[in-house]
Amino acid sequence: MQLPAYATLLTDIRNRVLTITVNRPDALNALSSRTVEDLEHCITAVAEVLHNDDGAWPVRGLIITGAGKAFVAGADIREMAAMSPDDAHDHSSRMHKVTLALEELPVPVIAAVNGYALGGGCELAMACDLIYAASNASFGQPEVGLGLVPGFGGSVRLPRRVGPGLARELLFTGRRLTAAEAREAGLVTAVFNSVDELLEGARSTLDLAARQSPAAIALVKRTLAETEGRRVPEALVTEADAFRAAFATEDKAEGTRAFLAKEPPNFPGR
Ligand code: COA
Repeated sequence: MQLPAYATLLTDIRNRVLTITVNRPDALNALSSRTVEDLEHCITAVAEVLHNDDGAWPVRGLIITGAGKAFVAGADIREMAAMSPDDAHDHSSRMHKVTLALEELPVPVIAAVNGYALGGGCELAMACDLIYAASNASFGQPEVGLGLVPGFGGSVRLPRRVGPGLARELLFTGRRLTAAEAREAGLVTAVFNSVDELLEGARSTLDLAARQSPAAIALVKRTLAETEGRRVPEALVTEADAFRAAFATEDKAEGTRAFLAKEPPNFPGR
């Protein structure tokens, strides 16, 4: 698939893995309105292709990372200093759309956090399925130190990721977690010694996922999104629906056939 050139993002598709690099290193990749607009365009374009795709799956996974020493050091404070309350609401709503679109992508998305993931950076990472980190990465929601509050999902997603107690502490104090602490808190699932190893680790997970049924992964992602926070009996109804849907796919026919024939599956992706 073809993506246009973006002012604030670099994109690269290799082995059907799309890497999106937020590219404003002079501002530690802070999310300006332009960056949010670029992200919205890019994620929407990928979603359109994948949701209307008939089994070709030109993208099997996404990696989001940052250029230079930061992942993303937050929303752009310079821009926000001059923003009206109504403009701020639009900025927040627009980035909410981006984070929801990321969560709704039918393929796995990994945030490869190569440095600071503060404020909007931590929020962008939390909209990804998995967060992998370089050992020098740090995570935090420092908004209250600026008289601000999280606007890109932090107050909603952080408690779900790390639990209500630690989330409150981080949101009230702005304290940063190291990569090791973030791993212990369950925010990060793997820590790597260098940025190269981080990106390699993310690619290797996506390559492994790309050998599974894409139709099944899409169903699992949807089930996870639709059941989060719901009561178990209702959530299990959704799971049973997904189970039924899987039985109507060609991937299920191929996966079970291949297992019984003792052959590797060749999933049609539908
Ligand atoms: N918005 C806009 N610009 C930012 C930014 C942000 N969120 N974070 C960093 N920058 C800019 C700095 O203003 C600086 O620009 P300058 O060179 O024109 O002065 C440049 O990026 C480098 O940042 P600097 O602070 O000099 O780097 P550092 O290594 O000393 O410190 C941080 C790194 C991340 C600790 C520090 O930049 C910081 O605290 N950033 C803000 C984090 C934050 O509060 N985010 C939440 C926003 S709601």
